[in-house]
Amino acid sequence: MKKAAILTGGGDSSGINDFIRSAVLLLASQDLEVVGVKQGYLGLLEEAYRPLTPDTVNSLVGTGGSMLLTSRTNPSKVAGGYERILDNLEKEKIEVLICVGGNDTLSVAGKLSELGVQVIGVPQTIDNDLPYTDYCIGFHTAVANIAASVRMIISSNISHQKEMVVEVMGRDSGFLALRSAIALGADYLAIPEFSLDMEKLCTMLLSNRAKGNKSSLMMVSEGVKASGANLLSDEVDVFGNIKLGGIGYHIAEQVDKKIGAKPRTEVLGYIPRGGMADPYDSFLSVLFARGVAENIKSNTFGVMVGIDAQTTKNVALSLAVSSIRVVQEKEYRNFFTC
Ligand code: F6P
Repeated sequence: MKKAAILTGGGDSSGINDFIRSAVLLLASQDLEVVGVKQGYLGLLEEAYRPLTPDTVNSLVGTGGSMLLTSRTNPSKVAGGYERILDNLEKEKIEVLICVGGNDTLSVAGKLSELGVQVIGVPQTIDNDLPYTDYCIGFHTAVANIAASVRMIISSNISHQKEMVVEVMGRDSGFLALRSAIALGADYLAIPEFSLDMEKLCTMLLSNRAKGNKSSLMMVSEGVKASGANLLSDEVDVFGNIKLGGIGYHIAEQVDKKIGAKPRTEVLGYIPRGGMADPYDSFLSVLFARGVAENIKSNTFGVMVGIDAQTTKNVALSLAVSSIRVVQEKEYRNFFTC
């Protein structure tokens, strides 16, 4: 009986468990034995596994987080890391490795593929910044969580006539902020792809104030760079990503300095990553699981399963991690002028 392993790496999000469930049910029906690797690549280094059977995964529908746990372990930062992984895969007789995650997790998957492992990647990140797929697991839930959280605060902003800056994650891509800002009818959007123009922002606020709207909503992505803001933290993860956060407070202070009245600031942090999966993420996870099962049947490895107009498609892992997807100017200008 062929044996496949599933691991989840990087930042978690909702929809991962739906993928695990669906993949286990499908692969079991193809007579494959499935094992879960605990805590991403750490589990492969330390031989931490758990069996996955239809019984163990059946109740996972819609649940948040990763039932396999996750970590940001980078095998290239561990002495002999890749050799240990290759030995352990052989020892455990794992023939197919399914890696669920974002750019970092899939870069390691690509390296393992180059080393001869039969790997299939599955895109999962709230940042939605992987190229060659319209969506990644977790993105829709994150947008829904942001919209629900901000809607809870908006009534208070209106009652108190307070402007508000909302900061959300997304690293170097503004998709999460863009989609949420559209859904919330935000008055201003700042994303890392375009430079922040404080003058335009303040002009917009003054114009809204003059029209009687004193509760403008400004959506900001954590990766936005602002002149004069020294927000770069010393915290860097094992993949070299700098810990982001705090630009929202800086913008609120600048608004106060330039035109008075400091906006409220909400940094949503990890809220978008948790809770029950949005039904679209559950649907996407099922589609990706079917793509993975098809690939195993046809011996197609070294690819990431993506989605293109509701149909799954494969892209070489090396291409999938060759760049990050960012918001194009047209996409932004369609909705926001400043
Ligand atoms: O990559 C997903 C993400 O949520 C980014 O948007 C964010 O910058 C980062 O993870 C936060 O990482 P951590 O979970 O290590 O704090």
